[in-house]
Amino acid sequence: MAADSQSVCIAPSLLASDFSQLAADIDRVTAAGADLLHLDIMDGHFVPNLSYGIPVVEAIRRCTDLELDTHLMLTDPLEYVGPFVDAGADFLTIHLEACPEPAPVLRAIRDRGIGCGLAVNPGTEIDGMLPYLPDIDLALIMSVQPGFGGQSFQDHVLSKVRLVREEIDSQGLTVALEIDGGVGPKNAALCREAGARWLVAGSSVFGAADATEAIQIIRTG
Ligand code: DX5
Ligand code: ZN
Repeated sequence: MAADSQSVCIAPSLLASDFSQLAADIDRVTAAGADLLHLDIMDGHFVPNLSYGIPVVEAIRRCTDLELDTHLMLTDPLEYVGPFVDAGADFLTIHLEACPEPAPVLRAIRDRGIGCGLAVNPGTEIDGMLPYLPDIDLALIMSVQPGFGGQSFQDHVLSKVRLVREEIDSQGLTVALEIDGGVGPKNAALCREAGARWLVAGSSVFGAADATEAIQIIRTG
């Protein structure tokens, strides 16, 4: 079943997987209950790290029927929209910090027939995102500074999650509200209570002794 914006959905971040056995790790988190997969694309410029690119997304597409929630940490995402859509992404999320005028990029993503998302870093005021809520499918609140997995959750971002939740509900929108960074069994309930519905979890799922249990606690515990 496709991930929907109102249900709690767990998106394991493949950044925390073992790339030497990526297909097996995808099967493992799928069997453990993942609702979609989170793909972190880093350009070494918008963030001080490199991850993987289009050929790897194509390979992931061939390994799974889960939707690919693709998080573009890129300085210039517009020129990569087509290639990532062709590679099989189902959602493409761009950063407000990289695109202070995001409307043309969001439109380019929607015009290709997939979901478009807008992300904000922990230190970015939320006001800049609010005008775009009617035009996006996914609002991503970062709970760590993007660039690396395995960082500590910054709980001050929960106030932004609450505010965006109120806006989505009061406007009757169907935007998926996602939180990403340091999410795990210890803080997932806080994220859900604040109104997040899509929870990205990298280290807490791939590093768990029992991924099924980790996903279950993140979803409902
Ligand atoms: C950070 C990425 C996150 C990260 C999540 O730049 O956007 O998606 O990989 O990993 P954990 O859950 O380990 O913080
Ligand atoms: Zn991410």
